[in-house]
Amino acid sequence: MNKTIAFFDSKPYDKKSFSDVNKDFGFDITYFDAHLDAQTARLSDNFDGVCAFVNDTIDAVVINEVVKHGVKIIALRCSGYNNVDLNAAFGKVHLVRVPAYSPFAVAEHTVALMLSLNRKTYKAYHRTRDGNFSINGLLGFDMHGKTVGVVGTGQIGKRLIMILKGFGMNVLAYDPYPDQEFARATDIRYTPLEVIYKQADIISLNCPLTKETKGMIDLNAIEQMKQGVMIINTGRGKLVDTYALINGLKSGKIGAAGLDVYEEESDYFFEDRSLELIADDMLARLLTFPNVLMTAHQAFFTAEALHNIALTTLNNLKEYFEGGFLKNEICYKCDKPCRKEENKRCF
Ligand code: NAI
Repeated sequence: MNKTIAFFDSKPYDKKSFSDVNKDFGFDITYFDAHLDAQTARLSDNFDGVCAFVNDTIDAVVINEVVKHGVKIIALRCSGYNNVDLNAAFGKVHLVRVPAYSPFAVAEHTVALMLSLNRKTYKAYHRTRDGNFSINGLLGFDMHGKTVGVVGTGQIGKRLIMILKGFGMNVLAYDPYPDQEFARATDIRYTPLEVIYKQADIISLNCPLTKETKGMIDLNAIEQMKQGVMIINTGRGKLVDTYALINGLKSGKIGAAGLDVYEEESDYFFEDRSLELIADDMLARLLTFPNVLMTAHQAFFTAEALHNIALTTLNNLKEYFEGGFLKNEICYKCDKPCRKEENKRCF
């Protein structure tokens, strides 16, 4: 397909997976290292479409700029779209995303964080390489029989629950749209959030970032939690109020935190900043805790997921340029696949 795509925030692994899959599509893709934002949006000049990622800014300024250059489609190569001003986009530019590429990847990484924090394998790795074979301080607990609270039982939450049931854990779940059939089949219980806060030994955040979920893990929520609770966030950074998290870690209320996302991650994650000072004091403080394990938004990062992301993104673009129904469109009106029922585009 002889259409040109401006691909923002590209990394070597993106170029590889997209170039491989693009052999079957034939788009003319230009890879830009820069994030898409108010300064870089003008790079979209002379392109037919734009491809963006989680930490790109797709606000009103950027939308107006790309539209000014004739772009009518922005393809997000991710599932979350909290970085998009849907109101500003509606009627001007189509937005498509990758609703699912590998729930396994994120669920499995979530479990990796839990197990590493529990059994402190990240510490053991350094100890043994340093000739230190002491196991003092590495005491963990059996996952079997413990209670885990899963907040958000979509594709990732469900897959996570299935893995954790394999450990013999007692699973409590919260979702405003509970799937009782799934609950019956997996022998889990939906409860209000407060019950999860009170009873869970481990809490995992697997819900999207919305007006309702922003800052949900705040001082008040942490106050209700069990002493020594483990919090895992592979959802979005802003689900957690970082000040409250640090407070909880300092007091010992939070026993461990596994963070694949961070509320101000966009300046740091996916970049090598190892030769620079960390100017973000909250991030720097988090990294001083021995019981915090941070990964830089890598939960999605498996070979299978990358392949699926490239395939769905290029297919979304193909659907647009061929004039077809955009099954993975998002819009502020529907806040889900746009006009699916009518099988039509919203505008
Ligand atoms: P999904 O759309 O399948 O499921 C989301 C679930 O959250 C739905 O069941 C929904 O009802 C529920 N939900 C909505 N509002 C809620 C609330 N107020 N409280 C609790 N639950 C609520 O999405 P999926 O694929 O399971 O992904 C979940 C989130 O994981 C995404 O929104 C994204 O933010 C994050 N994610 C992170 C990745 C990473 O690499 N760290 C990769 C992919 C997704």
